[in-house]
Amino acid sequence: MALYAIGDTHLSLGSDKPMDVFGGGWMGYVDKLRQGFSCVEAEDAVVLCGDLSWGMSLNEAREDFAFLDSLPGRKLLMKGNHDYWWTTASKMNQFFKENGFSTLEILHNNCHIYGEVALCGTRGWFYEEDRGEHSAKIFNRELIRLEASLKAGGEREKFCFLHYPPLYQGYRCQEIIDLMERYGVSRCYYGHLHGGSHRLAISGRQGTVEYHLVAADYLGFRPEKILP
Ligand SMILES: [Fe+2]
Ligand SMILES: [Fe+2]
Repeated sequence: MALYAIGDTHLSLGSDKPMDVFGGGWMGYVDKLRQGFSCVEAEDAVVLCGDLSWGMSLNEAREDFAFLDSLPGRKLLMKGNHDYWWTTASKMNQFFKENGFSTLEILHNNCHIYGEVALCGTRGWFYEEDRGEHSAKIFNRELIRLEASLKAGGEREKFCFLHYPPLYQGYRCQEIIDLMERYGVSRCYYGHLHGGSHRLAISGRQGTVEYHLVAADYLGFRPEKILP
């Protein structure tokens, strides 16, 4: 049994938003993902750190879910800033059930236990979003979600999965970092950064947390094994 993480699959099998136009690593990325998942076994778990499908609704994203479901392992789905299909957990779970997508689960307002480790997380926050009145509400909601998820982890070791990087060159989301440190998170995995932004990513230990970028194009579309 192993645990993996990867973000930003940016699938569009049922809609017309191919990522190949970005060239470089994105050329043939669906095949690369399929190939990248070949190291994953059925009993493994993979945390998918947001920006999963360009579909605007569950129906539009159906083919993307079918693709994800066809890959080996249990997949824990998180919300990114492009996941417009995202709706309530009960609607998503119902949709997965009706379509027979038996390997897809939601990591949102909850935590999953993997062995001795609690897998916590939420979308997070990034400097691209301003903090006007409306944004402040969303930001606070993210903090509440993250704290609820960390609390649900109890006394276990905790890994925190975010879509947005809490740290970036010249940017620090102190409120999120404080929560992770207060609840004893040992590692944080995040996505969102693509192409040239990779070189501005921060990885390694900062304070008491170890940070890792797991955006698909950064990983060469191969999920990163994070626990044996
Ligand atoms: Fe992305
Ligand atoms: Fe993103």
